[in-house]
Amino acid sequence: MDLRTTVTGLELSNPLLLASGILDETGASMARAVREGVGAVVTKSMGPAPRPGHPNPTVVEVGGGLLNAMGLPGPGVAHFREEIDPALAAGATVVGSVFGGDAQEYARLAADMEALGVHAVELNVSCPHAKGYGSELGSDPAVLHGVVAAVKDAVKVPVWTKLTPNTNDVTALGLAAQDAGTDALVATNTLKAIAIEPDVRMPVLGNKVGGLSGKALKPVALRAVWDLHQKVDVPVVASGGIYDARDVLEYAMAGATAFQVGTALMHRGWDVFTDIQEGLTAWMETERVGNLSEITGAAHHGPGRGGRVGTAG
Ligand SMILES: Cc1cc2nc3c(=O)[nH]c(=O)nc-3n(C[C@H](O)[C@H](O)[C@H](O)COP(=O)(O)O)c2cc1C
Repeated sequence: MDLRTTVTGLELSNPLLLASGILDETGASMARAVREGVGAVVTKSMGPAPRPGHPNPTVVEVGGGLLNAMGLPGPGVAHFREEIDPALAAGATVVGSVFGGDAQEYARLAADMEALGVHAVELNVSCPHAKGYGSELGSDPAVLHGVVAAVKDAVKVPVWTKLTPNTNDVTALGLAAQDAGTDALVATNTLKAIAIEPDVRMPVLGNKVGGLSGKALKPVALRAVWDLHQKVDVPVVASGGIYDARDVLEYAMAGATAFQVGTALMHRGWDVFTDIQEGLTAWMETERVGNLSEITGAAHHGPGRGGRVGTAG
């Protein structure tokens, strides 16, 4: 069984990635991720200048998931070399994530990120809780087109565009990004959400509104991957509630070719990466699947080998 995967020309030992913003992606945590067997790491999203992020609390557990409103804290791309260098030295394939306020800023930041030696850039055009950034930009197909086109002009490395689920038509966004030249789509970022503490009669998070991740996000992101697979030609990378091998299989059969793990790492610890790989290998042996590419989009074509015809209803 072979878990090796190539996405936008990046040859990965396996299709699992550490998702952006989980564990802050310091040099040390990215190097650790390599030792724990990830195929690649996505950095925390970096902007043009240091940002403190939102006031505490920034994270709260909710039923079926996690709500966060970190507010994109970070040192800014200019100070990020000290985190990237140890990750590259550890042999990581690094996808550098950036966020900006307009197309030209995205282009500058992507070029700065490329200069740090990353293997691809991921455009965070989908953060639901940073005013003026994120999904405020990435939910308008025309604006998104401008951002992606400017970045494509500015860098040579592959460009991944991370889409928001906070839209009524994710395929319009995917098609706009594809038309502007994106090399891959990532589906999805977090869902805009809120938690309220009744005893104090106020929202829990310092920023009030945050982004929902984890198991509760999975069916939504899975549907986004499903829809995108029917409309776009570029590879789709899954993000949303991936906890085990079966989650990966669902996303693969919806059409994804690589899989980002985020919240599950906080809930399950580092073993999540080897556990998922073992689960995938065992399933592939039973089903006689040599490589996951054989099942990309399989659920769109009806029951195949080992498939069951449903009798429900
Ligand atoms: C604490 C936290 C911080 C995050 N920071 C970022 C970030 O900086 N940039 C980004 O694109 N996504 C960020 N995300 C979103 C994740 O990368 C991922 O897309 C999302 O959580 C869904 O995947 P999951 O359900 O596996 O966590 C963050 C998520 C969490 C929970």
